[in-house]
Amino acid sequence: VAARRSYHEKVLDHYNNPRNVGSMKKDAEDVGTGLVGAPACGDVMKLQIKVDPANDTITDVKFKTFGCGSAIASSSYLTELVRGMTLEQAGRIRNTEIAKELCLPPVKLHCSMLAEDAIKSAISNYYTKNPKARATDLGGT
Ligand code: FES
Ligand code: FES
Repeated sequence: VAARRSYHEKVLDHYNNPRNVGSMKKDAEDVGTGLVGAPACGDVMKLQIKVDPANDTITDVKFKTFGCGSAIASSSYLTELVRGMTLEQAGRIRNTEIAKELCLPPVKLHCSMLAEDAIKSAISNYYTKNPKARATDLGGT
């Protein structure tokens, strides 16, 4: 019962008070946009990151999710997690970390996968716009 309650608390908290909902200018050079869908249910997530080109650090994050409560909670939690991270660190986030934090049941694992896909897609969009940044990151140790 305790585990069940904590699942509801964390998911419901993010669901009722989602952090960092919104969007940024897609065309801005320092913004990366990820738009992904979950084949399992058709839910869609848009995630945007603003990057400080001086150190490849994520300075701002916004999301919009058209999906279930777990998908909204996953993206909300993800935005808190990646703020301040380097692109490299953010690219290493696994959906299992998100699922664990939110205590998602197995049937809801794909909802957290949507969040992992979204951050990866946002990072790769940023790199497409800023090929130099990718070269630096890959060249680093
Ligand atoms: Fe997608 Fe839950 S099945 S909203
Ligand atoms: Fe499909 Fe949650 S994203 S049920």
